[in-house]
Amino acid sequence: MKIGILTSGGDCPGLNAVIRGAVLKGDRVHKAGFAGFRYGWRGVVDGDIMPLDRHSVRGLSRQGGTILGSSRTNPFEGPNGGPENIQRVMDENGIDAIIAIGGEGTLTAARRLTDAGIKIVGVPKTIDNDLAATDYSFGFDTAVEIATEAIDRLRTTAESHQRCMVVEVMGRHVGWIALHSGMAAGAHAILIPEQPQSIEQICEWVESVRDRGRAPVIVVSEGFHLDTMEEAHSHKGLDAFNRPRLGGIGEMLAPMIEARTGIESRATVLGHMQRGGVPSAYDRVLATRLGMAAIDAVFEERWGSMVSLKGTDVVNVSIADATGGLKTVPQQRYDEAALLFG
Ligand code: F6P
Repeated sequence: MKIGILTSGGDCPGLNAVIRGAVLKGDRVHKAGFAGFRYGWRGVVDGDIMPLDRHSVRGLSRQGGTILGSSRTNPFEGPNGGPENIQRVMDENGIDAIIAIGGEGTLTAARRLTDAGIKIVGVPKTIDNDLAATDYSFGFDTAVEIATEAIDRLRTTAESHQRCMVVEVMGRHVGWIALHSGMAAGAHAILIPEQPQSIEQICEWVESVRDRGRAPVIVVSEGFHLDTMEEAHSHKGLDAFNRPRLGGIGEMLAPMIEARTGIESRATVLGHMQRGGVPSAYDRVLATRLGMAAIDAVFEERWGSMVSLKGTDVVNVSIADATGGLKTVPQQRYDEAALLFG
């Protein structure tokens, strides 16, 4: 059997470890052959394929990014898009099945293609940790580590100048990165999409910190919106899956806080720093296990399924379960963090 692997959507630390896990187990246990689709679904629709063998995955688990490249290509769009063309590309290259490593957009497309008869197994990937049907996704732990270190650093410069620091982190429409990095770094308020707040409440937290002689550190998720806003701030248009590109809420909040409290305020956007560089040890292990489980799922012909973490076990779920709705931060997780705000 020959299996094509693709990495699609925003990249994520641990992608290479999944590829390595799948190829090594596929080679040793199942005697499978592999090919890599370049730049996600774009490589599938265009037939842009690279050889992938056990030598090409040597030492990969610690390497950031993805050796296959990634893109936010929608496989149903463009002149070569759609299941018939994809099946033709697979047949021409002797590829029997696909392992698709991706987030919500990628897996939704994978589900539609599986419904049309393409043999696909999914692997969940996202720093946002927003995919349902898996407890954690690889990349999230690394992103939280990077954000936590950045917040720690911003705190010392904030204290030197008695400033308020507003730190914007990624996460799209869920607040997991903000919640975990904010708790780890002892932020004075954590603003997440699931919990809109008023500017008055935010300023109250900021002033109470200042009144204790401390420099306020506010962590805001890119998808957060004030209670006066209809939706998350977005001024960058839409991505290939017609979802708004988020970012900019930190720059919006800092001057509002300064104007209302008189405390000099600065915004820092961590941006793609959170996705770059080497994966954490946790993410390397999780990603390797998911890659190995994905190859087993292929040989068990579990088309339309996704490998997933439940507790400490790697299990199989349907892609439909994972893409049915976002995994948001539960009220109780927010409440326990909010006890320490201000
Ligand atoms: O989904 C991962 C993510 O990093 C989000 O947190 C963020 O909103 C988005 O991707 C950024 O996308 P791009 O890399 O296309 O700018």
